[in-house]
Amino acid sequence: MKLGILISGRGSNMAAIVDAVASGEIPDSEVAVVISDKADAAGIVKAKDRGVEAVVVERRGRTRAEHDAEIGDALESRGVELVCLAGYMRLLSPEFVRRFAGRIVNIHPSLLPAFPGLDAQKQAFDAGIKITGCTVHYVDEFLDHGPVILQKEVERLDSDTVETLTQKILAEEHQLYIDALKKLAG
Ligand code: GAR
Repeated sequence: MKLGILISGRGSNMAAIVDAVASGEIPDSEVAVVISDKADAAGIVKAKDRGVEAVVVERRGRTRAEHDAEIGDALESRGVELVCLAGYMRLLSPEFVRRFAGRIVNIHPSLLPAFPGLDAQKQAFDAGIKITGCTVHYVDEFLDHGPVILQKEVERLDSDTVETLTQKILAEEHQLYIDALKKLAG
């Protein structure tokens, strides 16, 4: 399974996937390319340090469809079979979703369909939710939406702050994304 990973920032989920592919935990797979829409994304260095090609494709005032078409061409030219969104903070165009229909997955730091969008951990915290978590799901053209592949619950303790809750969820995200890709690769 040839993976292409899209990032916008830190890239810790991307690094977890690359490491799990390298160790064989995710079998029969290869990370063909990491693509960032931000030139200063910290994840670019993490990808290069791991020997993975990292490409920046910025929006540069183009339409969403034009931007996504360039990303799609970069993925297809490298033979990518599954597109993994890992902190890619941009809504994909319907054209892109159709082009890779059923072959795009995303990770989100809540138990979807609860709390889509930005700062999902803070949204759950502010709502006083006792159980939140993370979700890996297939992507459709709506934000943080589509059939669920795997979810993992995380308990919010009375002693938790938004920061500690976010850290606990992130630790679970890394394993959940690996488990979801093992399921898809197997
Ligand atoms: C992760 O918590 C991911 O679930 C979230 O952004 C963070 C990226 O961290 N994604 C979303 O909120 C998508 N709506 P990372 O760059 O270290 O993987």
